[in-house]
Amino acid sequence: MLRSKIIATGSYTPERILANSDLEKIVDTSDEWITERTGIRERRIARKSEATSDLAYEASKNALKQAGLKAKDIDLIIVATVTGDMPVPSTACILQDKLDAKMAAAFDINAACSGFIYALSVADAYIKNGMHKRILVVGAEILTKFTDWEDRTTCILFGDGAGAAILEATDGERGIISTKIHSDGSMWNLLHTPGGGSKHPTSKETINKKLHFIKMKGNETFKVAVRTLESLVVETLRENKLKPSQLSLLIPHQANLRIIQATANRLGLPMDKVVVNLERYGNTSAASVPIALDEAVRTGRIKEDDYILLEAFGGGLTWASALIKW
Ligand code: ACO
Repeated sequence: MLRSKIIATGSYTPERILANSDLEKIVDTSDEWITERTGIRERRIARKSEATSDLAYEASKNALKQAGLKAKDIDLIIVATVTGDMPVPSTACILQDKLDAKMAAAFDINAACSGFIYALSVADAYIKNGMHKRILVVGAEILTKFTDWEDRTTCILFGDGAGAAILEATDGERGIISTKIHSDGSMWNLLHTPGGGSKHPTSKETINKKLHFIKMKGNETFKVAVRTLESLVVETLRENKLKPSQLSLLIPHQANLRIIQATANRLGLPMDKVVVNLERYGNTSAASVPIALDEAVRTGRIKEDDYILLEAFGGGLTWASALIKW
């Protein structure tokens, strides 16, 4: 059976660290509040000169190196992002140019924090139907350039980074077993960046009203996220006739430690089977799952034949899972 297999991963996070104690000097917050409510201790901040494609480029180079491949070996590039370099062209096309991946087609996907798993599901489908053989899937974000640094309810959450995976067509049992993607557009306004699009094109007024910054109704989003992710992971395992005890690792989107713990509890999974790195990176949206995946690969937490489950929830609203036999 034709499957897609992740043959390599890579990630990149900017050098500059912003700790909770630094945020105490910017807004009315405390290290204690942020740590208790979110689990986040610090996050990475991109340089002024860095664009999302630069982060994507570094992560992709690391994945290509791990795979022992050249950029010309890639026939499709998909970048999941909500903080692309510019509205046109896609960040994937800019990344293609930086990599000199001449043989690839390239496009972006916007599914906020679920973006990387959405992109994996598209790549998986293209590989299974024979359209593409080797696909570079990237989640990359610079959320901190779209953050209102006077809004303590959002600025404490976000960080910058990128993660990449290379998928290859393969015969056999191992690879992506299933992907699930879901949306509920009726709750789009729980998490959105209102300005800069066709609804509110950039003007002095949109800037004065700070419409170019991310707005989030955190508490409402939290409740929907917990409920939705709990049923998503249960459903994913049930449909694939797997018991939670057969899972070697859960790799969740890194938005809030309490959301991650609720999902793990629902499955009865001990936290040592869950990848958590949000204390170091905060919420990096579409980049969080591939960064966590890459760290798990590079620290030897994933072995051949392991079942691993990726899941994410984000703006849209969107949510998604991918079950992989490594
Ligand atoms: N420091 C101190 N106090 C704060 C801060 C802060 N940084 N932020 C909010 N507070 C206060 C509030 O004003 C409120 O005070 P009040 O009770 O006097 O009104 C109190 O803390 C509680 O606020 P809540 O918003 O109810 O806090 P909550 O426990 O819900 O935590 C958080 C907020 C961390 C944002 C949480 O709701 C969350 O993680 N939400 C989900 C985020 C998510 O998953 N988003 C989707 C993915 S992101 C994407 O797609 C890009």
